[in-house]
Amino acid sequence: MCSHSPNHRSKCSAPAPATIIFLFVPLLCSVSFTNVNSQILEACSAATDCGPGLFCGNCPALGLKQPICTRGQATLPTSIVNGLPFNKYTWIVTHNSFSIVDAPPLPGVQRMTFYNQEDTVTNQLRNGVRGLMLDMYDFQNDIWLCHSFRGQCHNFTAFQPAVNTLKEVEAFLTENPTEIVTIVIEDYVHTPKGLANVFTSAGLDKYWFPVSKMPKKGED
Ligand SMILES: *[C@@H]1O[C@H](CO)[C@@H](O)[C@H](O)[C@H]1NC(C)=O
Repeated sequence: MCSHSPNHRSKCSAPAPATIIFLFVPLLCSVSFTNVNSQILEACSAATDCGPGLFCGNCPALGLKQPICTRGQATLPTSIVNGLPFNKYTWIVTHNSFSIVDAPPLPGVQRMTFYNQEDTVTNQLRNGVRGLMLDMYDFQNDIWLCHSFRGQCHNFTAFQPAVNTLKEVEAFLTENPTEIVTIVIEDYVHTPKGLANVFTSAGLDKYWFPVSKMPKKGED
């Protein structure tokens, strides 16, 4: 598990050599599985229209006007070839992993922001996502995931305390101890030790890949 911020703070942990990857794949659109007939990329209107392992998803980012049958589960590169250095793999990373369409707004607040994901973070991980891009801000005496501007989180751009999402990662890694998850942080946190504390509160400190062991200068 790694994190990296624009301020060059890095935190890492993993059962294997790790490094930082920057990929932009706001993929993995919507819900539920079934066993009927439409094949991948064919139009559908309900999950039951799609064949096994597929879901009926809407990917507006692709300019589609109608939902299509979409593969829900990414093939993990380590299941194809094992034992390579971490940086020799390509992993699926979700951009703004926390910006999920169904995420409830703060009480009494109309959220005004945009959404990048339809799956919960837990389901993103279960579906094969191995990197999360998270924007972290000081907000309400805590550290929050927020989509904001000028480094300031507002109640109408806030999603939830970062510790909640990090606990989802902790639960996933505890259930799947051989997996490696990379966290890329867009870091607006000024609270001293704020990031270290929130990772520790989530129980993720035990999974950090030590910064001192991070490969340097393009090494594996
Ligand atoms: C949201 O924030 C604004 C300004 O910071 C504040 O005036 C407003 O009361 C807040 N709304 C809620 C429902 O907390």
